[in-house]
Amino acid sequence: MSSLEETKVFNQNDAVIEGWYWALKSSKLNSKKPVHLNFLGRELALYRGEDGIARAVDAYCPHMGAHLAEGNVDGKGVRCFFHGWKFDEKGDLVDIPCRKSPGVESKIKTWPCQEKYGMIWIYTGEVPRQPVPFIYELKNSEVDASFGNEFVKECHPNVVMINAIDAHHFTSVHNLPVEVKFETIVHNDYCIAFENRTTIPHTRWYLKLFDKFYEKYLTYKMCYWNGSTGSVTVGPDFLHCHIIFALRPLANGHTEGQTILVTPKRKGVFGAIVNPIILWATKQVGNYFAKGDTEVFKTINFKLKTPIKEDDSIIKFLKHTEKQKTCDWGFGKSKNNIPESQEKDFQNEKKIQARFTNHPSL
Ligand code: FES
Ligand SMILES: [Fe+2]
Repeated sequence: MSSLEETKVFNQNDAVIEGWYWALKSSKLNSKKPVHLNFLGRELALYRGEDGIARAVDAYCPHMGAHLAEGNVDGKGVRCFFHGWKFDEKGDLVDIPCRKSPGVESKIKTWPCQEKYGMIWIYTGEVPRQPVPFIYELKNSEVDASFGNEFVKECHPNVVMINAIDAHHFTSVHNLPVEVKFETIVHNDYCIAFENRTTIPHTRWYLKLFDKFYEKYLTYKMCYWNGSTGSVTVGPDFLHCHIIFALRPLANGHTEGQTILVTPKRKGVFGAIVNPIILWATKQVGNYFAKGDTEVFKTINFKLKTPIKEDDSIIKFLKHTEKQKTCDWGFGKSKNNIPESQEKDFQNEKKIQARFTNHPSL
C-alpha cells in the first residue's frame, strides 16, 4: 500500500479476502433439492445431505458440465441430473448408473461449509484458518439468533463496514449527543475490534438517567472479521444487544448484506417469551444504525484523500484489511499477501491437526 488512497486489497473488487461469508439461510436448503448460488463470482451448488449436513461444491459436473443444482441429493452426496453420475460427500465420483463400477476417476471440488445463527456460511479457501464469525463476549455461550434485513449497498463491503467506526459522522449524520473514542483491540490477524472508551456526559437529564445503567463506559463495540463481517454490541450493562452485519461483495463492486440479531440463550418459558422480545428490540436498534447513511452509499467514491486525526479508527481498519490474505475465487485474484506470522501459525496448526484427526479445519 503506497498510501491510504492506493490500496491493493481494501475496497478492491479483484481482491477477494479468504474467509467465511454468509451464503444462504439454513431454512432455504432441504435434503432433496440442491440450490444454485453465485457466490462472490463463483458458481456453486449447495445441498443438504440426507445426514442433515449442508455442503457446497463447484457447480459444473466434470462429465459434460451440467449444473449440479439441477440434480438431486443422494445420501451424503449429489447426483447429476444429466447422466446420473453420483459424487459422494468428499466430491469423489462413486457411481455411473449405466456401469457396474465407474471405471474412471473424477472429482468435484468441495468447499468448507458450516451453519451458525440459522445461516449457512462458506469459506473461500481449502482449509479454514479461522472460525465462523462470533461475538467475543458470547464466545462460550449458547445463543439464539434471528434475521433482520437483507440489503444491497452500492459500494464495497469494506466501505460499508467503515461506517460503524466513523465516529466523526455520528454527530453529523446520526445526531448522537455523546462523544465516541475508540480503543483498538487486535484479536488476531483476521479480527480487529474497536471499543468505545468514553462515559455518558451529564449535559441533559435523560443522559444522566442513561448513565446509571453503565458502570463505566458507554457500551459501543465493533468487531470485524476479514473486513467484511462485523458485529456491533450496544446497550446498558444489564442488556447488551448484538447485531451482526454479514456482508459479501458482488461482481459489480456492490455489497449484499444480511443483518443477524444475536442474544444469549435463556432457559425455559422465561427464555421462550423474553428472547423473541429482545431480538425484536435488537432489530430496531439495527434499523436505527442502518438509517441515515443509505443515500451516501449510492454515490460515494471512497478515497481517503485528506485523513484527519478523527479518522484514526478508519485508518487502522483500512491498514488491517490491507493485510488480509486474498484468494483465487470468482472475481478475485490471489495477491500472495499472506502475512508471515499468519502463515507460520497456520502451518503449525495444520501439523497439529494432522496428528489428531483426518478432518483438519474447524
Ligand atoms: S453432465 Fe453430469 S453426468 Fe453427464
Ligand atoms: Fe452511519
